[in-house]
Amino acid sequence: MAHADADIPVKTPDGSYTIHIAAGIRQHIADKVGGRRAVIITNETVAPLYGEAMRDALGGCALITMPDGERYKTLATVAGFYGELVRAGLDRSGVVIALGGGVVGDSAGFAAATYLRGVRLLQVPTSLLAMVDSSVGGKVGVDLPGGKNLVGAFKQPDAVLIDPEVLTTLPPKEWRCGMAEAIKHGLLADHSLLDPALRTPDRAAELVRRAVQVKVDVVQRDPFEAGERAHLNLGHTFAHAIEQVSGYAWAHGEAVGVGLLVAAHLSHRLGLCGEEVPALVGDILAETGLPTRIGGLPSGALWAAMHTDKKWAAGVSRFVLLRGFQQPVVVEGVAESEVLAVLEGLQ
Ligand SMILES: NC(=O)c1ccc[n+]([C@@H]2O[C@H](COP(=O)([O-])OP(=O)(O)OC[C@H]3O[C@@H](n4cnc5c(N)ncnc54)[C@H](O)[C@@H]3O)[C@@H](O)[C@H]2O)c1
Ligand SMILES: [Zn+2]
Repeated sequence: MAHADADIPVKTPDGSYTIHIAAGIRQHIADKVGGRRAVIITNETVAPLYGEAMRDALGGCALITMPDGERYKTLATVAGFYGELVRAGLDRSGVVIALGGGVVGDSAGFAAATYLRGVRLLQVPTSLLAMVDSSVGGKVGVDLPGGKNLVGAFKQPDAVLIDPEVLTTLPPKEWRCGMAEAIKHGLLADHSLLDPALRTPDRAAELVRRAVQVKVDVVQRDPFEAGERAHLNLGHTFAHAIEQVSGYAWAHGEAVGVGLLVAAHLSHRLGLCGEEVPALVGDILAETGLPTRIGGLPSGALWAAMHTDKKWAAGVSRFVLLRGFQQPVVVEGVAESEVLAVLEGLQ
């Protein structure tokens, strides 16, 4: 193994699996499939980049290609997968390979969780976000017209294969969006992720390893979201409001970035942490090329959007905030006026 390669073991409620991080590992997929019948599910962008080569490496299995985009993360897309899985003759001993970003991982993962009451799943995340976030933790699912991720399951993979080489083709905007989640993991539990030296493409393997480890540690301690896993929502209450109020003109990762900044400023305003926390978050976002301003979205509309957050029981506000670096805390009942003041300050 090259020095940045790593195998991260993950304990789940019913077993364990390994997240393998290694340059070129996508070419060794056959070792993980182990002679079982396999079907690759990917999208139209990733198929020509990596899907066809993977199919050839497996001696020519079925390759299912969905259109690219969150709007295709639907039950209709998954229904299409079921038909193709039947046509490919995938039986209970077969394996679904989810090759792509989080949209493919969630949709294909949901198909694997439900087809024949569940078949084996190999996650091969190809976006930075999918590597550090969506492929870890076992949540799979699709969107409904009424909201994101409203149908889903917990489905642990047999293994996750992360090949940092595929990040070379990732569009810069998607790199920045994944970086927002890695910065979140840095703020939650690993200060080295906040070091600019690590956030460069040539250190990607190490960045991914550290960011994955943060999520692994949290989901191992709280696999079904009973408590600590809520910390992973740092910045996300604000991010979801920004996405919603902007009519999804903001990408999720961009909204998460500025959401982290709102959380840091709110934490400081409430006296939970010093001013060095929002200062560093602002510097990191700017240097990563992520927005540091809310950009004219009305503060009142953002507050109203937060009210629909499913984590706000009976309309009482609930935020993940920071008592300092790597010290997340859930705070309930923060006054509207405090939140509005922070949002106004970032307009
Ligand atoms: N299951 C979970 O726990 C969890 C956690 C976080 C996010 N998610 C979900 O993940 C999704 C977002 O994932 P995402 O940010 O990866 O979006 P995505 O899957 O849409 O991928 C982003 C873009 O990058 C392209 N792409 C991916 N890998 C590439 C590569 N190596 N080279 C070139 N292009 C590549 C994709 O085709 C797409 O256009 C959302 O649906 C979100 O709900 C799930
Ligand atoms: Zn996120």
